[in-house]
Amino acid sequence: MKYTMSTPESMCGIFGCIAPDAAGKVLEGLRKLEYRGYDSAGLAAIFTDHKGPIETERTTGYVSDLVNKANGRFDGARISIGHTRWATHGGVTDTNAHPHSSNDGTISVVHNGIIENASELLERVKNLGYDVQSETDSELIVHLLDHELKTQSRRKTPLDAFKSTVSLLRGSWAIAVIMTGMEAILVARNGAPLIIGRAHDSICIASDVQPFYGGCSEVAYMNDGDVFSITNEGILAPESTQTPDFITLEGVYEEQDSGIFEHMMLKEIFDQPVSLTNVLSGRISADGLRAELAGFDLDPEEMRNLDRINLVACGTAFFAAQIGVHFLRRHTGITVEAFRASEFPARSVCSPNSLTIGISQSGETKDTLDALQEARIAGGRISSFCNVIGSTIPRLTSNGAYLYAGPEFAVASTKVFSNMVAITLLLALTISEMPKTARTEIVQDLRELPNKVALNLKEDDGSLDKAVSILESANSAIFIGRGISAPLSQEGALKMMEVAYLPCLAYPGGELKHGPIALIEPGTPVIAIAPSDETLPLMESSIRECKTRGAKVILITDNEGPMLEFADVVLHTHSTGHDTSPIVNVIPLQLLAYRLGISKGLNVDRPRNLAKSVTVV
Ligand code: F6R
Repeated sequence: MKYTMSTPESMCGIFGCIAPDAAGKVLEGLRKLEYRGYDSAGLAAIFTDHKGPIETERTTGYVSDLVNKANGRFDGARISIGHTRWATHGGVTDTNAHPHSSNDGTISVVHNGIIENASELLERVKNLGYDVQSETDSELIVHLLDHELKTQSRRKTPLDAFKSTVSLLRGSWAIAVIMTGMEAILVARNGAPLIIGRAHDSICIASDVQPFYGGCSEVAYMNDGDVFSITNEGILAPESTQTPDFITLEGVYEEQDSGIFEHMMLKEIFDQPVSLTNVLSGRISADGLRAELAGFDLDPEEMRNLDRINLVACGTAFFAAQIGVHFLRRHTGITVEAFRASEFPARSVCSPNSLTIGISQSGETKDTLDALQEARIAGGRISSFCNVIGSTIPRLTSNGAYLYAGPEFAVASTKVFSNMVAITLLLALTISEMPKTARTEIVQDLRELPNKVALNLKEDDGSLDKAVSILESANSAIFIGRGISAPLSQEGALKMMEVAYLPCLAYPGGELKHGPIALIEPGTPVIAIAPSDETLPLMESSIRECKTRGAKVILITDNEGPMLEFADVVLHTHSTGHDTSPIVNVIPLQLLAYRLGISKGLNVDRPRNLAKSVTVV
């Protein structure tokens, strides 16, 4: 299946709707969007025949804090907008939380993105005599709009005033506005996502499709530059502008419910046998001998003739991309390199015969999106592997493959990492002209993978507890691996830092002796990933070097050899092929990070300072 549609994108979550219980829907929508940002939350609502100032509530903290503070005051509202924040301009305070209201309280605005000319606009707003209360760039929008409404000709509409206001802004935005006396929500998009959803008795707007599942059956994707008025009747655009068509909402409806698991992160770790089955399904031939990815503009022959493939991604997705580089180099003759999207040297590595593939869970990461756009400007082809259906990156590239991991709600990425690794292996198999026997072996490993992962998840001989207790008393940890396990060691370290706040270093085993080994003193935890592949003898040396200096070695391996005697704890994994080993070996790394986070009493699903979609640069 090819991706459909095209466009770019931003952080924070916006939800708004016109419905019989608008505020209830907004609070529910915000709960589902909370993973986008969770510093603070707020909502504004208008009731039937509403007069005077708009009711608003804002608070630092989670959406549940907002629900408590709202205390049913908004029940029965007809129109409502809400926001969950990840602070960029201004600290985390109630006053900086959205919505921001005009000085007379009759206009309320929520905004996602960054207004780059905020300093200039602040001067203007102050000169116009407005009282600016927050430190945010977003509040300026509401005062500019208020001024426009008060000064424009009588024949003009609120939508006209909004359009003029938006034309003063530079930067990125998704904006939603409600006003006393207006049976509509005004919306604008530029570089930050905003989607319109329709159900039989309501019309909604949201930063991504997630909150629409279970409510709306159809969606319309706004494009950059769009300024609309959303009413019960549908979408109204200023003269001579097009409105987007509603299309059926695709994708899988899944509640954000950890079920029998204590946390979403743990549930998502345990989802992996199923999510892996989903990414492989339909991509392995019925005879079980071949694996192939469809959905690209180029066929395998054309890909083999490319000058180079660039993989661009951030964080966890970047480490998956680095593993993908191992696959593509091992199985194809193509020049391939992975780049952190924020450091992508597009002009040096893109040409008409290059392909740049963006890898992203959210499909909205601004750094990745920008890298893809730069690749295109430099004349190269672009494509993507994303998880969120209909998100900005797949719509921009319009070709590529979905990861089909199902929604990932915990902020730390787990199940999607495995699917990213699997899809890059599928890409290598698609392009490669490797001998049949070698191919069949890898495909067989892939077929067995969900069960191997399930076995790893099921078996617990108490070693994990021992490993956690070593880490509990540590101030830092070092992760090592070689070859295909080197990027995996980085992923293990990232997960540990994110959810357990333990400072970690990750190094290829061979690099240790060139510097970082100086950090090892008696008791320093070293987490060594050593599958039974060609790097094993060298890993054994690296582990020995650490042990000799007093490290506490936590060894992740399927091997039963003499190396085990250098380990303080062995986390045994099931043997699998070389290419599938990162997906089996990531399980203990994910569990270790989760368990240490829990033992420290941390909110593993919502780690501090983070957000699920990083849509600022
Ligand atoms: C790590 C994590 C982040 C993301 C990164 C890219 O657990 O979640 O490092 O992997 O921000 O996000 P996506 O994949 O949405 O582009």
